[in-house]
Amino acid sequence: MTDPLARWRAGAGTAVLLDGFHALKHALRFGAQVPVAVTTDRGAALALAEELAADVRDTLDELLTEVSAAAYASLVPRPHPTGVAALAARPSRAAGLRSLARTPRPAPVVVLDDPRNLGNAGAVIRLAAGFGVTGVVTTGTLDPWHPTVVRGGAGLHFATTVERLGADELPAGPLFALDPEGEDIRGVALPDDAVLAFGSERSGLSPEVRGRADRLLALPMRPQVSSYNLATSVAMTLYHWSATGGAATAPPAISS
Ligand SMILES: C[S@@+](CC[C@H](N)C(=O)[O-])C[C@H]1O[C@@H](n2cnc3c(N)ncnc32)[C@H](O)[C@@H]1O
Repeated sequence: MTDPLARWRAGAGTAVLLDGFHALKHALRFGAQVPVAVTTDRGAALALAEELAADVRDTLDELLTEVSAAAYASLVPRPHPTGVAALAARPSRAAGLRSLARTPRPAPVVVLDDPRNLGNAGAVIRLAAGFGVTGVVTTGTLDPWHPTVVRGGAGLHFATTVERLGADELPAGPLFALDPEGEDIRGVALPDDAVLAFGSERSGLSPEVRGRADRLLALPMRPQVSSYNLATSVAMTLYHWSATGGAATAPPAISS
């Protein structure tokens, strides 16, 4: 099947939509299998690659097919300003579970306990990719591969492991649950095999995850402020891990 639109329609049901140039760039950098990629302007997309992503420029040159604006708009729910979109194969759950179970684990796993906001989940996956954590696990009903989460994650689902598990199936390792009532995180060094759990935007940690926690940790916060946003809490905690002896993330070779 050589027609890119036919390939797109054949794959759209099961594949992951990469919405925009940056999502495609990130996914390629982290080894995503991309069977089809389209653009409304090949010249502009390749110029962007030369400017921001020379490492994947040749791959993009091979992959990108120019389509009309109308054809592009028929493939994506919301046209992206870069006029680029692609489909990628979703990594297998078996591979994800193997990655979460490996020992010794070189970097923590982040658990989002029943998150509700798709944008928060995407932002956390982007953070996890940036800090090189082992994976992001969600409990509850939110699908961490929902297109809106993938959009928020900027294509970085492929740079870490992303799975939904039951609260009774969390990966092994010391469980640190983040809660404003916990002990001050600044006195605690987080080990690389930590499981770092964060509560739901609405109701905080579930009784199940709270009950399984080895320690409850609090981020410093002035009195009268009730809590931080979920994704910013993950950001501070991962920064704390990296700054207190956590496996340093290699400086990025590419700045864009
Ligand atoms: C928006 S907060 C949840 C607020 C919720 N109304 C509650 O009752 O906890 C989402 C999650 O971010 C984390 N969080 C927010 N502020 C925190 C803080 N100061 N210390 C530790 N964790 C915090 C916790 O894991 C919390 O469950």
